Amino acid sequence: MSWEDAGKTGIFRNKTERGTFTLANNAFGIDLGTSNIKIYNRADDDVFVEKNMIAIENKKTLFAYGDAAFEMYEKAPSNISITYPLSNGVIADIQNMETLVKYFLSGMMRNNVRPADYYIAVPWDVTEVEKRAFKDLIKESNVKARKVMVVDKAVADGLGLGIDVKNSQGVLVVNVGFDTTEISILSLGGIVLSRLIKVGGRKFDEAIKAAVRREYSLIIGGKTAEIVKISLHELEQDREGAVVYGRDIVTGLPVEREIPTALVDECLIEHFNSIIDNIKVILERTPPELAADIYRHGIYLTGGASQVSKLAQLMSKGTGLQVNVSENPVTSVALGLAKIIKEENYKSVAYAIEGMSK
Ligand SMILES: Nc1ncnc2c1ncn2[C@@H]1O[C@H](COP(=O)(O)OP(=O)(O)OP(=O)(O)O)[C@@H](O)[C@H]1O
Ligand SMILES: [Mg+2]
Repeated sequence: MSWEDAGKTGIFRNKTERGTFTLANNAFGIDLGTSNIKIYNRADDDVFVEKNMIAIENKKTLFAYGDAAFEMYEKAPSNISITYPLSNGVIADIQNMETLVKYFLSGMMRNNVRPADYYIAVPWDVTEVEKRAFKDLIKESNVKARKVMVVDKAVADGLGLGIDVKNSQGVLVVNVGFDTTEISILSLGGIVLSRLIKVGGRKFDEAIKAAVRREYSLIIGGKTAEIVKISLHELEQDREGAVVYGRDIVTGLPVEREIPTALVDECLIEHFNSIIDNIKVILERTPPELAADIYRHGIYLTGGASQVSKLAQLMSKGTGLQVNVSENPVTSVALGLAKIIKEENYKSVAYAIEGMSK
């Protein structure tokens, strides 16, 4: 039987390592990132990653979404507005976020939306209203949510990194994303302290753009800056500069320039230091009884932008702690949600927000 036919009859069965389930009790785990949305689908036992972006034409018509919208970003005419519905880790544009969630999920369900349970990861250091907005989002997106449970992002991260968070006392997780870095201390399955700071991959890209403009009178786009950031490690290994295309401020003409990697390293330092300083502040506030475990295990570092060249080394140097880098920096939160969905033992770390229908 094909996937589609199976979906229609509802008798599709998928054997995971931990038992059999039917599509009738499917579950999704969602990590809504500012730049990437990651959705774990139990039916596929896989994580879907797309840009959390929407393109609207003439202020009303959906033109493109996800990776297709990102592809047009910085290239589209002015009647097409391309935006991120999330800002600094919280939902800034509810209507567009609902549209995106609806399209992504119905696409994952082959346009045959059936009731499912939802587990959504939320940052800890935001207001209750902002947390509730994540739960409401799923309810309002018309995806037939049977149950919506909330999981603290850092707890899901810990699980996704392979840590037995329920039995550990003192785990320091740092997630460097696009708009934010979340620094959290976990103990016995919960959060002891957590701080969400407004530093991440987007700030790194902006710093590169500003440095190139200042030193070379050259305007480059955000995507070019991101490519430079991502290829930095490789360029340094090959002792090569970054070749970029942009517009010369003086002549107004398009040009190509080679940017030395030292300039890029230099402009990123300020942001790296800001992350490291915030880790130190959290460590200073950590109850001493938890410090021993943190000292023994070091920092667990994840999030897409944690991969930027030299951040892990500088973090280790600045804090005196060992830094464990994630094998799945972009999807670690979603992989943690997958564990919660699949393993009964971890269900207790998910909670319902009061006032929910179920
Ligand atoms: N190899 C890499 N080196 C450096 N940066 C990278 C690499 N791969 C991805 N990134 C950066 O990671 C960021 C996206 O990471 P991630 O998906 O974790 O963020 P997010 O969850 O969408 O954002 P947030 O958690 O702030 O809401 C982007 O800034 C991207 O440029
Ligand atoms: Mg994130």
